[in-house]
Amino acid sequence: MASTLSILSFCSLLVLALVLVQSTHSAIIPEPKNSIAKHTPHPSSSHLTYIVQTNHLAKPSKFTTLDHWYTSMVPTTSSRILYTYGTVIHGFAVRLTDGEARRMSAVPGVTRVYKDRVYHTQTTRSPWFMGLHDDFGAWPDTDFGDGIIIGIVDTGIWPKRASFNDTGLGPVRATWRGKCVDAEGFNATLLCNNKLVGAKSFTVNLPVLECDDPSPRDHMGHGTHVASTAAGAEVPVKLHALGCVG
Ligand SMILES: *[C@@H]1O[C@H](CO)[C@@H](O)[C@H](O)[C@H]1NC(C)=O
Ligand SMILES: *[C@@H]1O[C@H](CO)[C@@H](O)[C@H](O)[C@H]1NC(C)=O
Repeated sequence: MASTLSILSFCSLLVLALVLVQSTHSAIIPEPKNSIAKHTPHPSSSHLTYIVQTNHLAKPSKFTTLDHWYTSMVPTTSSRILYTYGTVIHGFAVRLTDGEARRMSAVPGVTRVYKDRVYHTQTTRSPWFMGLHDDFGAWPDTDFGDGIIIGIVDTGIWPKRASFNDTGLGPVRATWRGKCVDAEGFNATLLCNNKLVGAKSFTVNLPVLECDDPSPRDHMGHGTHVASTAAGAEVPVKLHALGCVG
């Protein structure tokens, strides 16, 4: 079972690196990214962000707009309204203390008050979402992409990732014409294998665009992410590592 991946890397569409990878299993690993910025506590750390959902039809007529109504609800000790919502739900976000939130939920016209939560995107559920399964469907039906070479034009590749482990893969087929090309910081002999079967940087040296990296090594992460999604080896998910996937 082996599919093969080829990647082209780019920087502002000017740097191109060709990377070619071969795989036993489509596998998806989380990309560690910066966590989403949180609101700084204000006016004090006992304040948290709450979403106040309202029944907009219950707005008392003395308020000309929903904004006036919402402003009237916010305790003067509290911070300003952070956002107002008027499409999917009606309401607003505001920083409140526990007690203020409880009192807010009793205000006529307020249907619900709940704490804001930060959600992180994760790729670990993509196979389930797409209906992919080891034992039936598209994956086993295609022998996990056996023999397919995938070429990607992207920001390059970080070859040491577990996704590009070639354990169990035979050599790339003899008709393969691509190359893994040595470059500064990229020893093709060491870094390419039967999974990553080709890598090449196509650089237009325009210093003003800072696009003069002659190596297919990926310093942005996008190409690595795309390559491992398309033809990465199966990598066990480390749940503790999922905390700040963004
Ligand atoms: C590649 O995968 C095999 C099988 O899971 C494992 O034994 C090996 O240590 C891995 N190699 C690297 C360099 O991580
Ligand atoms: C790449 O690594 C191999 C094995 O360590 C070494 O023999 C070779 O000289 C290196 N190539 C370059 C261009 O540094």
